[in-house]
Amino acid sequence: MNPTLTPSWQQLGALAPESGAVHLRERFETDPARAERYRAEACGISLDYSKNRIDDAVLKALLALAEARGVSTLRDAMFSGEPINNTEGRAVLHTALRKQDAAPVRVAGEDVMPAVREVRQRCYAFAERVRSGAWLGFTGATISDVVNIGIGGSDLGPLMVCEALKPYADGPRLHFVSNVDSAQIVATLKGLDPARTLFIIASKTFTTIETLSNARTARQWLLDAAGGDEAAIAKHFVAVSTNREKVTAFGIDADNMFGFWDWVGGRYSLWSAIGLPIIIAQGAQRFDELLHGAYEMDEHFRTAPLASNLPVLLALLGIWYINFLGARSQVIAPYNQTLHRLPAFLQQLDMESNGKGVRRDGERIAYSTGPVIWGEPGINGQHAYFQLLHQGTALIPVDFILALRQPDTLASHQRTLMASCFAQSAALMRGKTADEVRAELSARGFSGDALEAAIPHRVFSGNRPSNTLLLDELNPRRLGALIALYEHKVFVQGAIWDLNSFDQWGVELGKQLASGIEAVLAGTADASAYDASTQALIARAQASGA
Ligand code: F6P
Repeated sequence: MNPTLTPSWQQLGALAPESGAVHLRERFETDPARAERYRAEACGISLDYSKNRIDDAVLKALLALAEARGVSTLRDAMFSGEPINNTEGRAVLHTALRKQDAAPVRVAGEDVMPAVREVRQRCYAFAERVRSGAWLGFTGATISDVVNIGIGGSDLGPLMVCEALKPYADGPRLHFVSNVDSAQIVATLKGLDPARTLFIIASKTFTTIETLSNARTARQWLLDAAGGDEAAIAKHFVAVSTNREKVTAFGIDADNMFGFWDWVGGRYSLWSAIGLPIIIAQGAQRFDELLHGAYEMDEHFRTAPLASNLPVLLALLGIWYINFLGARSQVIAPYNQTLHRLPAFLQQLDMESNGKGVRRDGERIAYSTGPVIWGEPGINGQHAYFQLLHQGTALIPVDFILALRQPDTLASHQRTLMASCFAQSAALMRGKTADEVRAELSARGFSGDALEAAIPHRVFSGNRPSNTLLLDELNPRRLGALIALYEHKVFVQGAIWDLNSFDQWGVELGKQLASGIEAVLAGTADASAYDASTQALIARAQASGA
C-alpha cells in the first residue's frame, strides 16, 4: 500500500509549506503552553517534542497517517508472532525475549517461551560460574577477561550496553573485537593472559567472514599458549548462534553453545544469548532489569493511545521531516558519556531496517525512506559537528538524550552537562537575529562597516527542530526502555513506509564480491570479471606486496 495515496499524506503535503513560515521562536512566544502540550512520558523517559515545527493540525494529520497505515494492526501482528518478515517468511519476536508475563507466544503453533527461558537460564548459570570463579581455564586459573568476537548486531548491542552500564559492572573485564583488520585483535590479545581469557564467538549465522577469521586467530593464540592441547578449547571458547552445525564444525562443543532463533534479527538480538557479555559483566539481576525496562516500553507501545505513545510520536516527527520538510538525516546526541556507542547502535538499527527502496510487495518506492543516522556524544559534538547544525544549510533534526542521574556523578559536572544540553536545543530553536547580533556587537564597541560585515556570520537562523529525551536515571531498566523505544520507532516508520524492516538484502552484494576478490588477491582467480577501477585497485594492492 502506497502511503502517499492516503488523505492524511496529502493533507500533510498541504500543511508543509505553511509550517516553515512560522518560526519556532514565534510559536513559543504566542503559545508557551506548547511545552506542556507537546510532552509525553512513559517508563521513566520523558519526551519534550515542543521544539518541533508542528502545530495541532500537523500532529492530527500525522496521527491520522499512522491510523491509515494500520500501524496498530501490524504492531499486534508482530507481538503475536505472525511472519511479518515477509521476504524471509519469519516472525519478528525480539519482544518475546523480554516478556515478563506468563502468556505463551506462538510461532507456527508452538510456544517459544519455554525455550527462551531455558536458554536464558543456561546463560545465567554459565555467567555466574565465570563471575564467581567456578569456571576455570586450562591451567586451573579463573577468568579475568572475556573477549566477544562478533560484528554488526552480534557486536554493537552488547558493546553499547556494556559501555552504558560500565559504572555498574562487577564481573570480568570485557573486550569486543569486530573488525577483520588484525590491528584490533592483535592489540586486544596483547594485554591478555590466555590462561585467564574466555572467548565468546557471537554470530547468528556462524558464516560471517570477519567473525570467523578473528575466531580462528583467537583459537590459534590459545592453542599456542596451551601447547597445542585441543582440550583447552572447551574451557576458553563458547559460541552464541542459531547454527549448531557450523558451531560444532568450527570445533566448539555443542554444550558450550547458547542458541537463539531465526525470529530474532541480528540488530534486535541483544536481549537473547547475544547479551551474554552483558550478563557476564553485569550479572543476571541487572540483565533482568534491562529486559524488564524493555518489556515496560513494549507494553507502553502496545497499549498507549497513539497520541501519547512515545515510539509513535518519535516516528511521526521523523516522517514529518523526512517526507514533508526535506530532511535527509537525523542526529542522535546522547549527553551521558557512557552512552557513547548509542549513535552507532541506532545507526545499524535504523539504517539496516529502513534503508530500503521497495515496498513489502516489491514495488519500487518514489518517496523518501530511512534517513542517515549519525551522532556522537552531544557535549563533544558541540565542539565539532554542531556548527553545521546551527548554521549549515541542511535541516537536521536532533534527538538530545540525557539521563538526569547516573552513578559516579559529580554535582558540578552534571550541572554543566545538563545546562549544555538544554542550551543547545534552545539555541537551535530560537536562533539569534541580526538585530540581536547588532545590539550585542555595538555594546562591545563594533561600529560602521566592521559591524555590518560581522553580523551575517554571527546570525543563527534558528527554527531548527529537536526532541529532548530525559531519563530519570541511567540504569539497566531505563536503558532497556530507551533501546526498545527506538526499536519501535523504527518499526512504526517502516510500517508507514510499507517496508519490511526486518531483512537486510542490501548487505549481500558486497559480501559476494568480497569473497571473489579475496580469491583474486590469493591468486586463485583472475580479475577479469571486475570493472577497470576494481582491477586497478587489486593490481595496486598486489604490487605493494601486501
Ligand atoms: O552483514 C550484516 C549482518 O548480517 C547483520 O545484519 C548482522 O547483525 C551482522 O551481519 C552479523 O551477522 P552474524 O551475527 O550472522 O555474524
